[in-house]
Amino acid sequence: MSFLDDLPFLSPDPLLSVAQQAERDHRIGKLDLTIGVYKDRSGQTPIFKSVKSAESSLVQNEITKSYLSTEGVPTFCNAITDLILSPHDVTCTKLATVQTLGGTGALSLAGRFLSDNFPESVIWIGTPTWSNHVAVMRQCGLNVQTYARSLPTGGRNFATLMDVLTHKARRGDIILLQPICHNPTGDDWNKAEWDEITAQIVKAGLLPLVDIAYHGLGQDLASDLTRLHTLVEQTDVTLVCYSCSKNFGLYRDRVGALLVAGQSNVQPQALQSQLAAIARTNYSMPPAHGALTVGHILTTPALRQQWENEVESMQAHLHTVRTQLAAHKQIGPCNVQTIATGRGMFCMLPLPPTIIMLLRNEYSIYMADNGRINLAALNENNLPQFVALIDRVWANTQIGTMRNVNVPASL
Ligand code: LMR
Repeated sequence: MSFLDDLPFLSPDPLLSVAQQAERDHRIGKLDLTIGVYKDRSGQTPIFKSVKSAESSLVQNEITKSYLSTEGVPTFCNAITDLILSPHDVTCTKLATVQTLGGTGALSLAGRFLSDNFPESVIWIGTPTWSNHVAVMRQCGLNVQTYARSLPTGGRNFATLMDVLTHKARRGDIILLQPICHNPTGDDWNKAEWDEITAQIVKAGLLPLVDIAYHGLGQDLASDLTRLHTLVEQTDVTLVCYSCSKNFGLYRDRVGALLVAGQSNVQPQALQSQLAAIARTNYSMPPAHGALTVGHILTTPALRQQWENEVESMQAHLHTVRTQLAAHKQIGPCNVQTIATGRGMFCMLPLPPTIIMLLRNEYSIYMADNGRINLAALNENNLPQFVALIDRVWANTQIGTMRNVNVPASL
């Protein structure tokens, strides 16, 4: 008899397990559209040039590997706060910025803080959402309630969100929002909708928790912050979870931040002590390398300019893929015209699960179970064949035979 005999098996994360399946697939023509990792036009995920330069400088000049404080690298925290709350001179009180283990670490730190201090509050999450949101918040002990963010026919469902904000949420509840580059749909709230959302959050006395993991990949670095700024300028307190995984390409270095800002005039010491205590009891202090790298880039004008150009070129690639995909109007059963006006790394191809599995198992085309695709993995070489294959697979399933479907030699 072992202590571990009765341990229940937990199902693996659905997105990561498909990504791992894709990694193990060595068939010619494989196309991995699963996890949100940026790929350039040649299908590579190179290290940013600005990151390489900053890292070289760190190697030359770093003089210690001693511990950081629980809050992380001060230069990073200051620079990331300026980045998030600039360039429009947002009028707000900056209550705290803590370096975190990527965007997930920021969500988890925020979730723990909220569940410790607001145990009666419900956190409202619109689905579909990032596949880990609900799990992270439940793990933190929060009471998660979901609502349908998408209409059954696709497209964002403003009415259900407003219903939650107006009728269902109670004062003190938390609302998780993605202001830009919605994961997984790419279908963001427009300005008028966002203004109404913000006004109702204020009126109902709700606490917004914002996930901004794709800053710069929507429209541009400045415009992508305007929705967030509206919130910060009108709410008492907004919690912002920021990730440097995509826009600095520092996925494995785990760099992110939890920023708290708003119109509140409270002294921030109590808040800071809470966040520091959670960090200390979980991981003591965050790793230095990635945060030092980001801090160096953001505070060195030439590197910052280089980084801004690199983000701009990522955004341009995503925009091109959106335009090219949308030009097909219809792919299999999916009307894809609205993909052109979406933002960020993802969109949904609402294919039946049987087609998604068929594409995966027979043709090495991997997308998330819900039909989410990483647009960055498409380019002018593989996009036409990808579309043609889905059309053919769909047409053949419609006539009940797969005999005439040929796998393209290479995608
Ligand atoms: C994604 O949604 O693919 C990314 O945010 C990566 C992840 O951790 O799931």
